[in-house]
Amino acid sequence: MTMMNTQNSTDRIYNFSAGPSTLPESVLEQAREDILNIQGTGIGVLEHSHRGAAITEVFTETLDLCRELSGVGDDHEILFLSGGGSHHAAMLAMNFLPEGRTGDYLLTGNWARVAKEYADSYGSTHVAFDGKDTVYNRIPGDEDVQLSENPAYVHYCSNNTIYGTSFAAPPRTDAPLFVDMSSEMFSRTWDYSGHAVSYACAQKNLGPAAGSCVIVRKDLLERTNHGLPKIFSYAANAEKESRLNTPPVFTIYMMGLVFRWIKEQGGVSRSLKVRNREKAGIIYDAIDGSGRILDGPRRP
Ligand SMILES: Cc1ncc(COP(=O)(O)O)c(C=O)c1O
Repeated sequence: MTMMNTQNSTDRIYNFSAGPSTLPESVLEQAREDILNIQGTGIGVLEHSHRGAAITEVFTETLDLCRELSGVGDDHEILFLSGGGSHHAAMLAMNFLPEGRTGDYLLTGNWARVAKEYADSYGSTHVAFDGKDTVYNRIPGDEDVQLSENPAYVHYCSNNTIYGTSFAAPPRTDAPLFVDMSSEMFSRTWDYSGHAVSYACAQKNLGPAAGSCVIVRKDLLERTNHGLPKIFSYAANAEKESRLNTPPVFTIYMMGLVFRWIKEQGGVSRSLKVRNREKAGIIYDAIDGSGRILDGPRRP
């Protein structure tokens, strides 16, 4: 489904389909310039060495802005890595699900279920809530969540793409809390500091596909499972400041522009949040106005 985006000067449209979302027009215009020639260096962002001065500057700004928007302190590492949400759902279990322990999963939708299935390849999981029987139509209250005795972590998906439900507040637990925020990172205020891991693929809100933002508490990195190929180890990637191998430079650069745009718009609560509400309003108005749905959806 597409609709005219009245916020900009061109004939661009909104894109409501699954997958990548539209990006702010000013971000795309900046990228158009920087693809040809970034920072007056004579070549574009796609052509620079990922370890050279121009890209180091891009990385530093992106990292600083991400720290500012997320509000996490020095006890969290911020990583920009290859791979999408699925890769990191699998890597989290690879890194942090040790033998003899259990990873607990709240199954509130497709991606929460997929994350658990990836973890099953590496160790023991426990389903702490399963919304399958009611077609994932609700978020559990604390009383509905049955955690295992001493989970290595508790994983949930804050916003369930496809089913449209989202957590109003994180589930309560003393275990390290992992959240997949792929469809809403920085589109609403959230307690990133209170999570051991917050992760999101870039393409929903933050930039083009091919990379993810992973915010991870440093003490967890010290507990990484042994024997991993280095490239799949968050600790090894953190040690090399997200440049253990060639990272998805363009995606990271674009995330930086989006972070800058969010800040310029007045921060998380005033930028993507407002824009996403406007976009959702178009859909809800169309549904309400269709006269074809008797018991209409509730606006978030
Ligand atoms: C909430 C959520 N998590 C994970 C994913 C998977 O992301 P990727 O396609 O980058 O693996 C998606 C994709 O739609 C998603 O919406």
